[in-house]
Amino acid sequence: MVCFLDLGTSKVSGLLIDDLSNSKINAFSSIETSGVKKGSIINISATASSISKCLSDIEKQSGSKIKEVLVSISGEEVSSTNSIGQAAISEKEVSARDIENALNMSSTMKIPSDKTLLYAMPNSYLIDGVRSISNPLGMNGIKLEARSHLIHCSKNTKNNIKKCIKVSSSGIAIRKYFYSQLGVAHSVLTDYQKKEGVCVLDIGAGTTDISVYQNGSITFSKVLPYAGDYITETIASALDIQSSDAEVVKKRYGCAFSDYISDEMLKISLKHGKKSIPRKALAETIENSMSKILRHSLNSLEENNLLNYIPSGIVITGGSANMEGMEKLGQKLTNLNFKIGLPKYNLPQKSDNLMKPENSAILGMTKFYALEQDKEFTFNQSKGIIARVLEWIRTEL
Ligand SMILES: Nc1ncnc2c1ncn2[C@@H]1O[C@H](COP(=O)(O)OP(=O)(O)OP(=O)(O)O)[C@@H](O)[C@H]1O
Ligand SMILES: [Mg+2]
Repeated sequence: MVCFLDLGTSKVSGLLIDDLSNSKINAFSSIETSGVKKGSIINISATASSISKCLSDIEKQSGSKIKEVLVSISGEEVSSTNSIGQAAISEKEVSARDIENALNMSSTMKIPSDKTLLYAMPNSYLIDGVRSISNPLGMNGIKLEARSHLIHCSKNTKNNIKKCIKVSSSGIAIRKYFYSQLGVAHSVLTDYQKKEGVCVLDIGAGTTDISVYQNGSITFSKVLPYAGDYITETIASALDIQSSDAEVVKKRYGCAFSDYISDEMLKISLKHGKKSIPRKALAETIENSMSKILRHSLNSLEENNLLNYIPSGIVITGGSANMEGMEKLGQKLTNLNFKIGLPKYNLPQKSDNLMKPENSAILGMTKFYALEQDKEFTFNQSKGIIARVLEWIRTEL
């Protein structure tokens, strides 16, 4: 049994599968939360309460007791960098130990003092300067270099998550932390897009997560601290209504491409009373704020000289991709192949009702984790029995 938890700004999602190799969803739950802002925990008890509801829902549906969870997160304090680590090839042929040494070197470099490593994603290897080697094991050479994409989060993040899990449940352990976007790529992108060069934007409630894939691997990631909540706030202030009303209006009547919308008045029900609003003005407000998010995303790509290296264009996902007119606005603004990405690849069985953009991260996480487990297994196999025993002793200590 493997239980995934995705801590988003608007909701805590949980997903349970029985068996990674034959992944079938046993239980799924999504619970609203107010304890997370811009992807970061700001209120332990509110977040813990959502986690607790989510886990007990999963336990009720599955009839099983959850003992450990894999937690995926994002947040404005998540940052990333590419790194290279070198190791001498000890006995002419690359061994598992050499790979481990090169990877360790690459992941210990460049950690800012206030940060800790959230995840190191090995991308490719070089042997004596020869590039783009995906599996160097057994190859001949003198010097091995590992290229990794390193994702860091603030030191407080992991501690806060630990506290939330501790408060929310008795005795549940955290097996691993992930960066939620690593799952998204598996569920919304094709292998062809990742090989050609593509950018995926996950526009959620609090963060817009940008990731770029080239030659099949992640080469760039960045978290922008604004997304759907920012749009809701601009609607609330433009229409002079409460945020909770603006959220409902946005989802029910919103459109990100104002040319689609004719001049008509909308009668909206608010928590306290009713109001008439011009539908076109609503769409223009949304178009302006969504354009800002897209322009900031494009600027990040431009600053990192990536705009000309994504022939497969931009794929957007996350809850805000549900907004009507998003594709049209994106095409107009970016002049790139711009598409909505629903989770539809590598999904566990019984995902049919969950194939919505807000579930891209948690659905893709199952495949991401299964692949990680496979890699680790192959790697450990190749290390031989003594190394495996040593590793076991190390993790037990
Ligand atoms: N039909 C819709 N039209 C417009 N926006 C929508 C619609 N449905 C959902 N949203 C927006 O999607 C956002 C939630 O998306 P999602 O569930 O992906 O975010 P999250 O994972 O909780 O947060 P984050 O990843 O940013 O931390 C909210 O801002 C919500 O208003
Ligand atoms: Mg999210």
